Amino acid sequence: MVQKISLAFQNIVLSQIVKISERVREKAVEFEKTHKKPFIRFQRGDLGIDIPAYVRDAINEGLEKGLTKYPKSGGEPWFKDAVINHLEEMGIKNIKRDNVIATYGGQEGLQLVFSLFRGSKCLAFSPCWSCMLDNIFPYSETDYKLLPLKENFEIDFDEFEKNLKHSDILYLNNPHNPTGKVFTYEELERINHLCKKYDVLIVSDEAYKDIIFDNNRFHSMLEFDNKDVVSVFTFSKSFAATGFRAGYTVSRNSFIIEKMTLGDYSQTAGVVTFIQYAFKVALENKEEKDKWLKWFLNKLKKRRDIAYEELKEFVKDVYKPGGTFYFFVNLKDLIKKEVKNYDEYILDLLIENGVAVTPGSAFGRDFEGFIRISTSALEENLIKEGIKRIGEIFKSI
Ligand SMILES: Cc1ncc(COP(=O)(O)O)c(C=O)c1O
Repeated sequence: MVQKISLAFQNIVLSQIVKISERVREKAVEFEKTHKKPFIRFQRGDLGIDIPAYVRDAINEGLEKGLTKYPKSGGEPWFKDAVINHLEEMGIKNIKRDNVIATYGGQEGLQLVFSLFRGSKCLAFSPCWSCMLDNIFPYSETDYKLLPLKENFEIDFDEFEKNLKHSDILYLNNPHNPTGKVFTYEELERINHLCKKYDVLIVSDEAYKDIIFDNNRFHSMLEFDNKDVVSVFTFSKSFAATGFRAGYTVSRNSFIIEKMTLGDYSQTAGVVTFIQYAFKVALENKEEKDKWLKWFLNKLKKRRDIAYEELKEFVKDVYKPGGTFYFFVNLKDLIKKEVKNYDEYILDLLIENGVAVTPGSAFGRDFEGFIRISTSALEENLIKEGIKRIGEIFKSI
């Protein structure tokens, strides 16, 4: 019977990030007992910050309102209206209810849209978010090709155009996990132009849209006049609400949303209604939202800045992320001896010394010897201590 399990399920693998977290669980206890210092976890993109109080209150309010019955397929009209107004504030006009679907986080939005185009040829920049490689692409039997970003994570537009000719879908992730790159308007405009030229659907994963620093500006692909754009959003990162599993997907192509809604109904019957209510309030209470985002971004920026300063001490040309809470760092050049598998070597060395990171190959084969550091879950003192520790290890080998 087992052989009859569909190809999609046979090909899904446990995410490397989860694997590392499991591997670290026992090691961390042992390390802390022996060394009397904290084991420092940089591997997960979860937030060590509570959700905003006004969103928590809104959950109770939703329950008191009796929003506990079957949801409306695809999302409640009042939820969709809150999303539409929010997009309008971002300068994205002419979105109607039938262009929006409520989802269980960004992950469900991505899973639905790729399942809709099951077996398609997809182009994606690499490094690429590991969950796409381990889960979403195999689950939807997507035939994907990775196009490596150049030095400084720039796009090689010649190669991009060549590859686009043979693709049905582009998976774009902006701001970008794991590099923290925020794509410029000019880059997005060029991407949009080329995708239109070759009739390629753009699936734009905009999970980190609110986590932007310095003079960078986020631009959604929905800003362009293109029906073949599907933008996937989530509340997970913007509101430190990863456990709520709430998000929304938007496309000017209402047929795509209609089909996604049927898929969503078939698999979940819709997003829990009082959760939709909480995030309607999260978006509509502008005063509280602005206050929260200001506080939240200030905290994340301090974490980024500390990590950057510490990394600069031992890594040449550290890429300063313009958004997200990740650093993607090449450690290969710091290793002077012959090593068979750089990722294994680095991971073992770091775990032995009380630090966990995600290895580069989780984001594409070309990135063995890189590590992804996530600063989202830790306070500044631990970030500083953890990166100092990495520096000391690599200075001593
Ligand atoms: C690039 C990217 N897209 C989408 C998601 C999906 O997030 P969620 O399913 O929690 O909304 C994540 C989560 O880590 C992510 O890093």
